[in-house]
Amino acid sequence: MIIAPSLLAANFGRCASESVRVEKAGAEWLHLDIMDGHFVPNISFGPQLVRTIRPATKLFFDAHLMCTNPGILLEAFAQAGASQISVHAELGDQVTDLLWKIKSLGCKVGLAINPPTAISLVEPYLERIDYLLIMTVNPGFGGQPFIHETLPKVQQADAWRKRRKLSYRIGVDGGINFQTAADCARAGADTFISGTGLFGEPSLRRAVSKMRQIVVRAGAGNFALDGLFANQK
Ligand code: DX5
Ligand code: ZN
Repeated sequence: MIIAPSLLAANFGRCASESVRVEKAGAEWLHLDIMDGHFVPNISFGPQLVRTIRPATKLFFDAHLMCTNPGILLEAFAQAGASQISVHAELGDQVTDLLWKIKSLGCKVGLAINPPTAISLVEPYLERIDYLLIMTVNPGFGGQPFIHETLPKVQQADAWRKRRKLSYRIGVDGGINFQTAADCARAGADTFISGTGLFGEPSLRRAVSKMRQIVVRAGAGNFALDGLFANQK
């Protein structure tokens, strides 16, 4: 199980030291929300910030591009030190080329899907991805409530994975707290993105280890995922 605190909920005035705090808290990944003010009604930060914080930690950098035209940004994020780049399934025709380009840049390949979008849209890409990021809120802002209707998508993604013997990770993003993380783990998620659910706690270190304990226990019925993904940590 991977816990990925989202930088969006950290103190933007000191992103580098916040990343160090995430690493010291025992998380494996740092989730980086890239918003272009068009695909979503908000703007966050770009490759320059990622480049600036890269030397501070060895964390796996999980860049989530909520952008209408991510093709123009992939190289910049790869050079800035992104370990994995996710683009959105809603981009339609662009998706095949984008996934290929992410891979050719040497990054892990992620595909994200919004709550209103049918999960069938990602099915053709499952063999080409390392990571399926299921949005559990409509993207654009941190601190929104979890949308429970997204849980069947997690179950479907897990069923496909088992049936086809694939090994993409299943991430959930938005409104993830101790309770909703457990629900997602039971549905088959193995990667938990959380902003306010972790940074809002008095101790980030305790919050990360509590969330990990909860999801390990809740996901225990879902066979030995950690063995399956040992090479991706
Ligand atoms: C939402 C972003 C999320 C966000 C999650 O647009 O993609 O990654 O940071 O924040 P919380 O956990 O606060 O909902
Ligand atoms: Zn995100």
